[in-house]
Amino acid sequence: MVDARPVGFAVTEGVAVIRIANPPVNALSAPVRAGLSEAIAQASADPAVRAIVIAAEGRTFIAGADISEFGKTPVPPTLPQVIATLDACPKPIVAAIGGAALGGGLEVALACHARVASPNAKLGLPEVKLGLVPGAGGTQRLPRLIGAAQALPLMAEGTAINAAEALRLGILDAMAEGDLLAAARQHVLALAEAGDPLPRLRDRWDRLGPREAFEAAAAAVLKRAADHPAAAACVDCVRAAFEKSFEEALTFERETFLRLMQDERSKALRHVFFAERATAQIPGQPRDTQPRRIEHAAVVGAGTMGGGIAMVFANAGIPVTLIETHQEALGRGLERVAGTYAISVQRGSLAPEERDRRLARIEGRVGLEAAATADVVVEAVFEDLELKREIFGSLDRIAKPGALLASNTSYLDIDAIAQATARPGDVLGMHFFSPANVMKLLEVVRGAATTSEALATAVELGKRLGKVPVVVGSCHGFVGNRMLARRSAQAERLLLEGASPEEVDAALVAFGFRMGPFAMIDLAGLDIGWRTRKATGKTAPVADALCEAGRLGQKAGRGYYDYAGGARQGTPDPAVQQLIERISAQLGIPRRAIGREEITERLIFPMIDEGARILEEGIAARPGDIDVVWLNGYSWPAWRGGPMYYGATLGAAHVAQRLAAYAERSDDESLRPSAALSRLAREGLGFEALARTAA
Ligand code: 3HC
Ligand code: NAI
Repeated sequence: MVDARPVGFAVTEGVAVIRIANPPVNALSAPVRAGLSEAIAQASADPAVRAIVIAAEGRTFIAGADISEFGKTPVPPTLPQVIATLDACPKPIVAAIGGAALGGGLEVALACHARVASPNAKLGLPEVKLGLVPGAGGTQRLPRLIGAAQALPLMAEGTAINAAEALRLGILDAMAEGDLLAAARQHVLALAEAGDPLPRLRDRWDRLGPREAFEAAAAAVLKRAADHPAAAACVDCVRAAFEKSFEEALTFERETFLRLMQDERSKALRHVFFAERATAQIPGQPRDTQPRRIEHAAVVGAGTMGGGIAMVFANAGIPVTLIETHQEALGRGLERVAGTYAISVQRGSLAPEERDRRLARIEGRVGLEAAATADVVVEAVFEDLELKREIFGSLDRIAKPGALLASNTSYLDIDAIAQATARPGDVLGMHFFSPANVMKLLEVVRGAATTSEALATAVELGKRLGKVPVVVGSCHGFVGNRMLARRSAQAERLLLEGASPEEVDAALVAFGFRMGPFAMIDLAGLDIGWRTRKATGKTAPVADALCEAGRLGQKAGRGYYDYAGGARQGTPDPAVQQLIERISAQLGIPRRAIGREEITERLIFPMIDEGARILEEGIAARPGDIDVVWLNGYSWPAWRGGPMYYGATLGAAHVAQRLAAYAERSDDESLRPSAALSRLAREGLGFEALARTAA
């Protein structure tokens, strides 16, 4: 009979094994906490039990508190209460850690008297990524185990470490090469037999290490995390270990945890956690769809994107053929790839041997025939529909049956590309972002004929490549660039109405972006947009005039800003201001001072409006998918949750009303709220109401 309880209890030869079974990741939900409490009480009371092992089923130990309970009324026992029971237990307890012990999971293990792990274990306190501090003793016990100066960065950065590193640091007492449970039993029985007083971290203030070392670590954390309240709160909590009694410091930690839980930034980060996972559910896709095997890739076009995409495959251990039409172009592309790796080696982030292994996986070839052996072909040639159709027509003849045929197009119609083949079911978009070897986002563009199997293959491949794949529908610019176009149009328009490039940029930096739109364009080069506008017959008077004046951005020493002397940070240029004023006058647009609030709203709200249209058209399946696109492809500040989450916190009615007011004031019809947004505003609905997947 299957035991449905989330916490199992069995005693053999004097050892009670408490086993947590709460799939998929053994999160510490209310029933688990209750079961754990009961089991510890039972083991404490049972005279047949000499020692206790806490273990877990499945591929993780305990992934932490149950994040889906956050923000709801807490159900007792709380995790600190469970951990207090562990701490008070008179019998030795060992944690048997197979897989991830994260957050509350590591806190449970830290309250045990020793920790034994399998080599695949991963340990960490990632609460800071949810805008929180560890809330069940982690900020007090970890410093008392490995020293405050070592413990602080682990929790303030939230990075997980592997078992070998944890053993080295002294977080683990032993590594089990073979049977984890047997090793844990042996360890705990040895503790019981020794009969020594049980090692309790609460008593080990002597291990905190020198206060000066902690303060130096704190200063480094605060410097890196200037605007990160949770990282700063980790510093306060660890500092309390030096200044308060253990009990008082635990109370302080808990209060800090509960306070941060109410912070809007933590709520947004929790939304991000679930939104990123929800993208895996593809509408209309049976969950058991089997992806195809991918063992060899080909990339067509060794330009900016093609070279980067080839590196992405090589970095993930997948051999890749990089294809060009001419030897010179191929040589240039391969040189650029080698140059990028060389910079990583120089910086110390890539070992020379690993660089060599990666380079060995990239084979350069001239001629499309070289794609014949590939399981996936990613086309990254010029953004030209006819050229792409021609290439897909040839690939249809060359590629092996069942190969995934993907285009990296930024804007073009995937269906028009797919129709150039006799196998449109295998064709889709795999839209990487620049630089491809760095940016996490992958828009997987589903064509009208794309099969579930092809889609599942691309999504799985994306994950294997270390990307965050988001399935989107086919339309001009897909999700990310389509919304960006609305922002860019307003950025240009604001200049014409009286704002300066630095005022526009400063507004978005104040909002939380690392860079404003104009500094960004200067970095990427103004010619990219110029070429696209020429190809599509569009104009942007200021940007076009800058291009005509040779102000192509940082690489030209001049763009929206001046970069004299090769400066990386631009300075405002009076010549740009004059140019803008001249164009405003020519177009008869009255200039006025524009406040930061208006600038911010006119950049962000049209994106939210476009997001609503994207949802209504079924281009994105969920508002959260749009957020994930912007978080991973365009550096939207994570603590603001993404554009749709942000829009939802303001309410569709507010966004629509402001857009309508700006449309009036600026006489700019493009600012009028769309029918989709207006409907939400009128009916008081959330963005999810627009999603095609909404019931
Ligand atoms: N609570 C609730 N659900 C969780 C969860 C958690 N802590 N961790 C994972 N899940 C869910 C996911 O939402 C997902 O659900 P879905 O299948 O319905 O989408 C499912 O478990 C599987 O998760 P992943 O897709 O992330 O699985 P992976 O195998 O890729 O990764 C993992 C596993 C490394 C454990 C990863 O899930 C993870 O990092 N989890 C979060 C860890 C974390 O942040 N813990 C700290 C929580 S806060 C805390 O403990 C407070 C304490 O100090 C008091
Ligand atoms: P690029 O101009 O740097 O490179 C294109 C390469 O394709 C050139 O090296 C060219 O020689 C090669 N090429 C042309 N015809 C070919 C053929 N028939 N066979 C083999 N190779 C051929 O262009 P970039 O910037 O790399 O863009 C490529 C694609 O990626 C475009 O569709 C673009 O829209 C898209 N994209 C570009 C991004 C960017 O930031 N540059 C971001 C995301 C997508």
